[in-house]
Amino acid sequence: MKKILVTGGLGYIGSHTVVALQQAGYEVLIIDDCSNADKDFLDRITSITSIRPQYFSIDLKDQLKTNQFFENNPVDGVIHFAAYKAVGESVEKPLMYYRNNLMGLINLLEAMNENKVDHVIFSSSCTVYGQADQMPIDEQTPLKKPESPYGKTKQMGEEILEDYASTYQKNVICLRYFNPVGAHPSSKIGELPKGIPNNLVPYVTQTAAGIRECLSVWGDDYPTRDGTAIRDYIDVNDLADAHVKAITRLMEQKNKTNLEFFNLGTGTGSTVLEVVNAFEKANNLSVNYKIQPRRAGDIVEAFADNSFAKKELNWQPTISLEESLRNSWNWEQNLGQEK
Ligand code: UFG
Repeated sequence: MKKILVTGGLGYIGSHTVVALQQAGYEVLIIDDCSNADKDFLDRITSITSIRPQYFSIDLKDQLKTNQFFENNPVDGVIHFAAYKAVGESVEKPLMYYRNNLMGLINLLEAMNENKVDHVIFSSSCTVYGQADQMPIDEQTPLKKPESPYGKTKQMGEEILEDYASTYQKNVICLRYFNPVGAHPSSKIGELPKGIPNNLVPYVTQTAAGIRECLSVWGDDYPTRDGTAIRDYIDVNDLADAHVKAITRLMEQKNKTNLEFFNLGTGTGSTVLEVVNAFEKANNLSVNYKIQPRRAGDIVEAFADNSFAKKELNWQPTISLEESLRNSWNWEQNLGQEK
């Protein structure tokens, strides 16, 4: 059984990926410092798969402990999620973002190199494209300077990995996610925003649950079909499946080059109001919302050309937006009942 280390394995995309890896027959080890995750996700994962992953509470900024982990725990590959991800917070605290996201990555890569772990999947983001000139966005679309320090850490992370792959002959896949949504169909794991959610879907579910009074729709004067901004909302379980396919590609040495990039999106853009309507329809309820001015830093539209991932990873999105939004709502309700 191949052993895969998942850093940030108790987080939103990480936990869904751990479940998918275990179900695909991998042995999973998790590193997470729980700075933005809850340790009870270990129990939640175990309750879905009946397999408890080995868990290590390590901050990747701690070089010594990161090295010791690899010395004591031989693994075949790494999926690296552990990073800060709040765009607004990164604008206020850029150094904290550079320190955490870049130092964590560098310590991880050094420890992997010293311990001869040759395969890594990196969580990247469509934010590296900025406001692209053409839609849909494929992997050849030129990268633009990201708006936020968070986005810059993703772009710099990819650059660090480029040098790492070529200098040390390592195999790297960067997965560029569009907008992750949804929750596990069991409702046992899902997104757990701390404080007031920044992202659209958690804000919608919390409004529907009565935790928030009213959803602000940031801007209805964009040049789009209904004036609200367009994104590509991809289900988190579909994302998890892409990670299994990507690590398997490396394990089976089927990668074409030692540094590959894949866009992970559905290929379809939805406006903010379309998401709200789809949520209402999927769950047969209505969401209180109000149009507000545009949010600083938001782009007009982003949606993926996912044909490269479909062809090379043999992956495709299987979960509709409505189904994702039904799962998100079930997860929110489940959380409410647990309190
Ligand atoms: N939106 C609202 N109201 C809200 C929250 C969001 O109208 O309360 C709108 C936004 O203005 C945007 C859309 O919903 O038009 C999606 O916003 P999110 O905050 O959910 O997602 P973003 O596209 O801004 O950001 C996401 C990830 C980032 C990543 C980025 C890449 O959260 O981590 O995609 O573009 F960097």
